[in-house]
Amino acid sequence: MERRVGIIGAGISGLLACKYILEKGFQPLVFEAEDGIGGLWRHTIESTKLQNSKESYRFSDLAWDSCVEDEYPSNVQVMEYLNSYAHHFGLFPYIRFNSRVIDIDYVGDDDEQVMEAWDLWGGNGRPFASKGKWHICKTLRLSPLSGVPNMPEFPEGQGPEVFKGQVLHSMEYSSMANEDAAEFIKAKRVTVVGSQKSAFDIAVECANANGIENPCTMIQRTTHWLLPDTTVWGISLGFLYFNRFSEFLVHKPGESFLLSLVATLLSPLRWAISKFVESNLRWKLPLDKYGLVPNHSFLQDVSSCQIGMLPQQFYERVEEGSIIIKRSQGFRFCKEGLIIDGESNPIETDVVILATGYKGDQKLRNIFKSPIFQKYFNIGSATSKVPLYRQILHARIPQLAIIGYGEGLSNLFFSEMECQWLARFLEGGIELPNVREMEKNVKMWEANMKLYGGKYYWKSCIGGCSIWYNDQLCQDMGCKPTRKNGLFAEMTLLKNFVEE
Ligand SMILES: Cc1cc2nc3c(=O)[nH]c(=O)nc-3n(C[C@H](O)[C@H](O)[C@H](O)COP(=O)(O)OP(=O)(O)OC[C@H]3O[C@@H](n4cnc5c(N)ncnc54)[C@H](O)[C@@H]3O)c2cc1C
Ligand SMILES: NC(=O)c1ccc[n+]([C@@H]2O[C@H](COP(=O)([O-])OP(=O)(O)OC[C@H]3O[C@@H](n4cnc5c(N)ncnc54)[C@H](OP(=O)(O)O)[C@@H]3O)[C@@H](O)[C@H]2O)c1
Repeated sequence: MERRVGIIGAGISGLLACKYILEKGFQPLVFEAEDGIGGLWRHTIESTKLQNSKESYRFSDLAWDSCVEDEYPSNVQVMEYLNSYAHHFGLFPYIRFNSRVIDIDYVGDDDEQVMEAWDLWGGNGRPFASKGKWHICKTLRLSPLSGVPNMPEFPEGQGPEVFKGQVLHSMEYSSMANEDAAEFIKAKRVTVVGSQKSAFDIAVECANANGIENPCTMIQRTTHWLLPDTTVWGISLGFLYFNRFSEFLVHKPGESFLLSLVATLLSPLRWAISKFVESNLRWKLPLDKYGLVPNHSFLQDVSSCQIGMLPQQFYERVEEGSIIIKRSQGFRFCKEGLIIDGESNPIETDVVILATGYKGDQKLRNIFKSPIFQKYFNIGSATSKVPLYRQILHARIPQLAIIGYGEGLSNLFFSEMECQWLARFLEGGIELPNVREMEKNVKMWEANMKLYGGKYYWKSCIGGCSIWYNDQLCQDMGCKPTRKNGLFAEMTLLKNFVEE
């Protein structure tokens, strides 16, 4: 029987899943809510560039076009690259555009007690079952946006409803056409809430447009270590954090006693490297002057995938006064604008842009029709994250895989590795442990993310031990994880993102 695989989304993860599943002889069908591929890359602000170098954000089997000379391609160039990938591998015929999936429903052994008692994933440990299948319910209409924004909540009378200006999430602002976005912020006092990449990028865009006459105010709850470039006192950051040697310095989920001992003995070095990077950033950037030195270590930000690239000219704009930074744990709306903790006068503003991130877990949860599956996604919980084995399978949800949920240094690379693993699994090439072992493994990863990621562990970041993760996928697939020439190169050189 021909095996049909439904894929939701034609972003990078969906395209990769389609390509690898097709290659194994299955029949994929991609449902995409919008009228084109690319996912979030279709809706970025004008200045958005790739944060990684193009060599680390590339498909293993398709190089960037030689005319892309910039090390950090623009959003337009990324979109061109994704389009060329979909054309090159003939993926378009398998995509149904303007098809938003409303929910998915598992039809098979869907009795909760039966499923709870399963010893093997899906009852048989196999990707397909004779009677179980998913029903995909979709609507044919154009949907402007598909993410779930994280919107701050307020007591009655303190939220956006009392403000006379406009409030929108960064997702809505990013989805505007460039000319509309420029017109929208023109000659307005804009306040941006957030202290991560989107907030910084939007603040610079507003400052460039409006100058010191209408400065942009940024409200930061937590300060993070953003990078102006990728060298630290002349050394590439990759040598300090993204090679095999650097992974000896951190504990890894399921490591041997010897590796654990090495990581413990090397912990002073791990601390020293973090301080070394922090000292360089405090020297390069006026963090002390503006009270922007984070309270947590650089290691924590790396380990929770919170390291972003600082947009060009950010501190020049702060120095000249076209960006004003306010630190505050909380804020509320009033008629004229926002009032932050500890101040009685409002920040008068015309527009508030909430660059407060996304709720990926909520998006996942909402797609399941069954409350049994919904309860596995612990929305907004401070004590849990989405529990995925190998960051791909939920131990208790049969015949379903999630790609691109965990974050890493280069998300394209991880999505591709996950799709390769998935395709191998679908053809029967990977034996899963039993459900309890899968759950134990998930808990081990969660504990590790908590150890290094602190309160941000829910982001499911595998950045701190990404080579370890990669090696496990390779071992499952029966392929050699080491690819460099000799032990020294393997230990010290950066991870290779493409086959040599
Ligand atoms: C502004 C921005 C910039 C980024 N830059 C980088 C970077 O420089 N480097 C990096 O490594 N990572 C970056 N990331 C992380 C990024 O998430 C990944 O690199 C990658 O692009 C994600 O691809 P994806 O396919 O997993 O998700 P998405 O790109 O979000 O694609 C999901 C797709 O699914 C569709 N969809 C969603 N719900 C439904 C539904 N119910 N029915 C049908 N279709 C649906 C959407 O329309 C969309 O096309 C960035 C993220 C953002 C927000
Ligand atoms: N390639 C690019 O140029 C580019 C551009 C934009 C985004 N991105 C990527 O897109 C992803 C999302 O980035 P993002 O910046 O949109 O979101 P994000 O990384 O999730 O950051 C959200 C920010 O909002 C703050 N926040 C959340 N709720 C708040 C509240 N109630 N009050 C005040 N502050 C609040 C958070 O503060 P706390 O830290 O205190 O929680 C955090 O600073 C990231 O992976 C990022 O790297 C990439």
